[in-house]
Formats: sequence, C-alpha cells, structure tokens
Amino acid sequence: MRDDLAAELTDLGPLAARVPEALRATAAYHVPQPPRIVAKLDANELPYPLPAELRAQLGAALAEVALERYPDPRAQRLRAIVAGSLEIDGERLVFGNGSDELIAMLCNAFPGPILYPTPTFVYYRLAAVARGLPMVEVPLGPRFELDEPAVIAAIEAQRPSIVFLALPNNPTGTLWRTAFACELAARFRDTVIVADEAYVAYSGVTSLPALAAHPNLVVLRTLSKIGLAGLRVGFTISTRAVAHVLEKVRPPYNLSALDQRAAEVALTELAGWCAARAADVVAERARLAAALAAHGMEVFASEANLLLVRVADAPALWSRLAAAGIVVRMFDRGALTNCLRITVGTPAETALLLAAL
Ligand SMILES: Cc1ncc(COP(=O)(O)O)c(C=O)c1O
Repeated sequence: MRDDLAAELTDLGPLAARVPEALRATAAYHVPQPPRIVAKLDANELPYPLPAELRAQLGAALAEVALERYPDPRAQRLRAIVAGSLEIDGERLVFGNGSDELIAMLCNAFPGPILYPTPTFVYYRLAAVARGLPMVEVPLGPRFELDEPAVIAAIEAQRPSIVFLALPNNPTGTLWRTAFACELAARFRDTVIVADEAYVAYSGVTSLPALAAHPNLVVLRTLSKIGLAGLRVGFTISTRAVAHVLEKVRPPYNLSALDQRAAEVALTELAGWCAARAADVVAERARLAAALAAHGMEVFASEANLLLVRVADAPALWSRLAAAGIVVRMFDRGALTNCLRITVGTPAETALLLAAL
C-alpha cells in the first residue's frame, strides 16, 4: 500500500482514542487480487457456475419477488424447506446473512470470552474484537491437530461463553474428532459449543444427531461452500431456547427477499446439481493433493474443499502463480509460515495450476 494512503487510512485524529486498542491493532479482511484471474482458488468457493437451464429457472423465480415489500422476517418458506430436509422442527433454525452474521449474533447473545483454536477461520476473532470480548486462543499441534487437553484446560481456566470449532477447519482442512465437541458440551454446560459445519458437503461428517443430547451445542451451516457464496445465507440449528435468544439479536430483515427466494430454489431445484458438483470436488481433491505432493510440497490432510500446503517460499510462489493469473490464499505467519491455501477447483483449473508450478 502507498505510504500516503496507509497514513490516510490510519490517521483517525482525536477519534483514535474512541476505537478500542484491539480493533486498532486488527487488520481489516483483505484479499489481494492479481489484475488478471484465470483460476480463482482463494476463497473456498465451488468452482462450477450454475448451468444455463438452472440459471433460467432461478431467474424466473426471482422475477416474481415483490421488491417493493420488506422480506419475510421469519423466512417461513425457506425455514420449511430446510426443516424438511434436515427433518427437524423449523423453530430450531435461525437464519443469517451468511454464517459470518450468525457468528456475530452468537457473540452478541452470549457475550464473554470467546475460545477458538488457532489457526482457524478468522471471523471468530474479528467478531470477538468488534465486540470487545476477550479472546482465548489455543494453538493447534504441528499437524494442525486439536490439542484436546489444552482446550479443556483453557475452558476450565477462562470459562468462555462460546467455543468455536470449525469441523473441518479452515484454513487447514483438518477434521478434528467431532465427538470432542459433544464431550465439551457435556462437560461445560454453561458454554455454547459451536460445531461450524461450513464444509460438511466435503467431509460428510455432522454433529446434528448429537444436538438432541446436548442443549448447549449449536451447529452452524452455510450455503456458501456449495455453489451459492454470492447469496449470503447461513443458519444455525440449536434448541428452540437458544434459537429464541439468537432471534432477539437478529436484525429483522437480515435475509433479503432475493436471498430467501434464491435459497429456496437452491435447496429444492438445484440441490442435486450442488451435491453432484461437491462430489466432483472431493474426487478432484485427492488428485490435486497427490499432484502437489509430487511437486515436493508438504500437503496437509483435508476434509474440506481446500488444501493447505507448505512450500519453501510462499510469498515467491504466490507471486509466481498470481503472475499466471492463478490466485490462491497466502498465509505466511506463525504456525502458517510459508503456507498457501489452495481451493480445489475444476480439473481444468488443476491443470493450469500444475502447469504454472
Ligand atoms: C469455517 C467457516 N465458517 C464460516 C465461514 C463463513 O461463511 P459464510 O460465507 O456463510 O459467511 C467460512 C468461510 O470461509 C468458514 O471457512
């Protein structure tokens, strides 16, 4: 960034004292983009665009939406569809503008220390910082495995109000023992244990059946990773009581009418296509992992639609790939020194990536 621009962005003048120290020290979410992109492998999106006939179907449905009206604040039709597909009571669902918003709502409804392992999804930290909540960070092991005794010790010492576990984890792709979330829920009944299942389509593993036994367990889902990141729709599944509390902090019209209608179509007419493409990505993940390892990279085991790799010089490789129009995510700090996160793309994108390597 240019020095004068950096100064303009950071010089708040007398307002600086009004911004909490932790927020001032935090960088805004920023993803560098090369000018020309031929393969976008940086955001864990589904690489396949909707086929033309499904787009037409979606377009026809959206054309019917009454934009002069506020959206249904309860998203009743979408609620019925999700409840039906998960075979649960719809009152146990809370919808969010992406799961990011639900993470923020959880922090609003259950303010207190927020615990998460590191490295993990950055928004757990950002949501805590934005609310001035203490953060309890528990480092992962050398292969990004969860240090279960350290998590338990940290909970006992800090009594967090929420524990966020991304199952599988981003940016590492690691799938930790899901039974551990239940064990925590049983042991620490005054703590909300969040099983963030953003990548469930790629792991096939869910904590949903455990909800019945654990009233403080919350499952978090999103449509973003199965081809609909542009929509911004996520939901929590919890007890009705937890859902009731979350409803109090939910902005009433957080899901636009277009989002609701599109999500309804996505979860009915498009669901088969989304599931088939997710299966394609799982197959491609194995192929890509083997190819990257053959290139001498250290490839970490992943149950998500991404592969974390460690290379000799991540900034240099990032720049080389960017010059070829291939954008991946660079992490080059702390435990992620010299790591790149590569979203699993189409076979054609894999070919471009391997050619650039
Ligand atoms: C673990 C995890 N949770 C939640 C999200 C946020 O997803 P959404 O697009 O629904 O806000 C992401 C996005 O990358 C993620 O990796």
